[in-house]
Amino acid sequence: ATEPDLTGRHVVVSAGGTREPLDPVRFLGNRSSGKQGYALARTAAARGARVTLIAANTGLPDPAGVDVVPVGTAVQLREAVLKAASDADAVVMAAAVADFRPAAYAAGKIKKKDDQEPEPIVLVRNPDILAEISADRPRPGQVVVGFAAETDDVLANGRTKLARKGCDLLVVNEVGERKTFGAEENEAVVLGADGSETPVPYGPKEALAEMVWDLVVRRLV
Ligand code: C5P
Repeated sequence: ATEPDLTGRHVVVSAGGTREPLDPVRFLGNRSSGKQGYALARTAAARGARVTLIAANTGLPDPAGVDVVPVGTAVQLREAVLKAASDADAVVMAAAVADFRPAAYAAGKIKKKDDQEPEPIVLVRNPDILAEISADRPRPGQVVVGFAAETDDVLANGRTKLARKGCDLLVVNEVGERKTFGAEENEAVVLGADGSETPVPYGPKEALAEMVWDLVVRRLV
């Protein structure tokens, strides 16, 4: 049986991947399915939390008993997360947020011209929502959790990222064939700002979600 150890708490989870439009039909996106974020939302609700799920382009059915806020771009995700986070006990940023967006949006579909080379796409930086919330907690004492997908030097890069972002916990996973993007399973190490290191063996995304909430609960004030 699940402990109702998040009863009376409000948690915010972001899930999915942002899409940064180039024109009305094209965007820059990523391979995030949203499954890990939805597992986090479901498990938090089962543990008694009020859950706001900020969902970026997931196409997944709304989990029962969860407030779902659909968003498209990183800028929209930032607005929705900041709004929901003002009274949140914990914020978990499981969404894959585009680091950059096209500098210009073409109101009409970009045409190919037969006699011309294609135009380069100029990018500008998106706000780093995790770093912003970590530095300037919308509610004092709230627990902030980030995710990082790495392909090499997973732990060393994870430690550096945790310090740079300033969050309390960072879930680091290695991008691989049978795990992370689109998969039902994941394998991760959860790094704590207190120096802790919690390995989570290969298994369902629900199991990783439960471990994240275990670690969050211990840090709640
Ligand atoms: O820097 P990187 O994209 O690897 O960091 C991943 C973590 O930071 C995730 O938790 C993601 O949700 C968050 N992030 C963010 N805003 C960005 C980029 C990433 O909040 N612009």
